[in-house]
Amino acid sequence: MSKQTPIRRTTVPQIAARKGGEPIVSLTSYHAHTAAIVDKYADFILVGDSLGMVMHGMESTIGVPLDLMIMHGKAVVKGTKQALIVVDMPFGTYEESPAVAFRNAAKIMKETGCGAVKLEGGARMAETIHFLVERGIPVMAHIGLTPQSSHVMGGFKTQGRDEAGWDAIIQDAKAVAEAGAFAVVVEGVVEPLAVKITKECPIPTIGIGASAECDGQILVLEDMLGLNEWTPKFVKVYGDLGPAIERAVSEYAEEVKTRAFPSEDEVYK
Ligand code: KIV
Repeated sequence: MSKQTPIRRTTVPQIAARKGGEPIVSLTSYHAHTAAIVDKYADFILVGDSLGMVMHGMESTIGVPLDLMIMHGKAVVKGTKQALIVVDMPFGTYEESPAVAFRNAAKIMKETGCGAVKLEGGARMAETIHFLVERGIPVMAHIGLTPQSSHVMGGFKTQGRDEAGWDAIIQDAKAVAEAGAFAVVVEGVVEPLAVKITKECPIPTIGIGASAECDGQILVLEDMLGLNEWTPKFVKVYGDLGPAIERAVSEYAEEVKTRAFPSEDEVYK
């Protein structure tokens, strides 16, 4: 009989305990092979619904189906050993009622093997977050710029430009923490507001287009690798993979056309 080595991943309480401590490193990932690389460096990996736009050419995240999230979630869990895997709940799978949210979150967790789910919304989602956490589903919240509400917000706009709107966003952070979320993504808010939320909210804040002072940071992997044609202004591009892939593909195409492509006996010696 073979003995399996148990996989020990970062846990939800370990992430929650990093409030005010060592910054939390996270990235999105949608496939087993990129996830295996990210796994060596990230505390958690988010299978974000941004995959609809980044991988499937959608104009927004609104059309992302639950089954697609589950398919990519499974791949990322399979490709990783260390990081906590968080899977996004797509639009329309959790807003209707806490019971609907529970059914879909449980399906995500059972079918992917992930360790937590993420959903968008602040105070308005507090009851649902509480319902899920009470029933064993760890929840990461997401406030500020919430892409699934982009039609209501009038686009992907930085939040909190007008100080009069700060209080509602701070209350969102406090409400999700009180409801039991273990961390909160703070996306696209002005820097002083992100700093204030991080000071006043008892759970780790994970910034994206927010502030270096957040308790952790997340970026969309393809953005920071230079793979997307358009990259948000706040993203530092750490890799230049788009042009590198193009060079490789054009060299291959040229070799095929000029019959310089290696023959079988050169490749399989
Ligand atoms: O869907 C996603 O990738 C996200 C991150 C941008 C936080 O929610």
